[in-house]
Amino acid sequence: MEIEFHDRKREIEEIKRILSYRPDSIYFVYGPINSGKTELFRHLIKTLPKEYMVFYISLRHIYVSKADDFLRILFEVKNKRMNIKSLVKELIETYVPKEIITPIGRFPIPKNVFREIFKEKAIENVFVYLESLLMEVSKKKKPVLVLDELQKIDDVKINGPLIYELFNFFVGLTKESHLAHVFAITSDSLFLEKVYKEAMLHGRCDYLLVDDFDYDITVEFLRKYGFSKDEIELTWNYFGGKPVYLVKAIKNKHRLKEFCEEQLKLRFSQLLDTIYEVEKNKELFDGVIELFKAINENEVIKYTKIDDPLKFCVKRNVLFVEPVNRIVKPQSRLDLLAVRKLLQEL
Ligand SMILES: Nc1ncnc2c1ncn2[C@@H]1O[C@H](COP(=O)(O)OP(=O)(O)O)[C@@H](O)[C@H]1O
Ligand SMILES: [Mg+2]
Repeated sequence: MEIEFHDRKREIEEIKRILSYRPDSIYFVYGPINSGKTELFRHLIKTLPKEYMVFYISLRHIYVSKADDFLRILFEVKNKRMNIKSLVKELIETYVPKEIITPIGRFPIPKNVFREIFKEKAIENVFVYLESLLMEVSKKKKPVLVLDELQKIDDVKINGPLIYELFNFFVGLTKESHLAHVFAITSDSLFLEKVYKEAMLHGRCDYLLVDDFDYDITVEFLRKYGFSKDEIELTWNYFGGKPVYLVKAIKNKHRLKEFCEEQLKLRFSQLLDTIYEVEKNKELFDGVIELFKAINENEVIKYTKIDDPLKFCVKRNVLFVEPVNRIVKPQSRLDLLAVRKLLQEL
């Protein structure tokens, strides 16, 4: 059974609205893990009008240890010697917005230019080249850059950190030259929080939250697959509106209760491993438990600063920080249940 893309009307409308204006700002797309960020862009890329040309680069399955690793995956090296004009002409003629296969829509580059740029190790030249390529594309199409899992280059340095070079480039493309739309997707809320505090980006970027489905949208989704009222309540109770689990619940509808319990058992066991990791560090352990107690009581809490216990829980994907509203919440309803179970057992 094929499970169709569901809803996201509000988010799609918002992104299309952004795309209808000239590029002016970098958009950071964030949300808890498995909330459907990639899926949303996958859907968008397939359905956007022909006037747009999307370059989608995902770092998800890519091991990035140095700047070169990242910069190389941006490119599709062409064997021929071609000038930018003819490269772009070919690109536009052959462009098909296909399924996202990691990564699609790389930037074409002639072999000789590629060699030169990487031989001289002059990284600025990468951006100079990309800019002239996008300039050429923009004569015919509206270029859109989508970078998925951007946090993976957070630690990578060229001379300074690569991420700043990249942000500079993005600011140039959006706020300054209005050449291309830029969307940077991340599930890592600690990374986002750093971005949020970064002075260099103030007034130059905006944030788009792609969260789990809300209750009504979840109900609608499950109804499509014949869920009864009780089955819906059960599923919502275990997984909230986390798309990845809803899809699995649909596939396990014939043994729903059992499936829900299994998933909780699994998540609980993972949480135990997580907590055993800090067992010997009393201060951290106590801090984490305090945090869990607060989450248990309120589900969503305000934070003042990101201290070690909070950082730890976010890194282990138990909690999610939303810096725009300065709140902390469980990564999913299942995490909340696992936290509750843990507190009971202790
Ligand atoms: N709008 C949606 N409709 C149907 N299924 C979805 C939707 N969004 C996400 N999913 C399901 O959830 C899974 C995880 O979503 P994904 O986009 O990979 O999450 P993220 O990128 O936010 O971590 C997808 O593989 C898909 O099965
Ligand atoms: Mg993703």
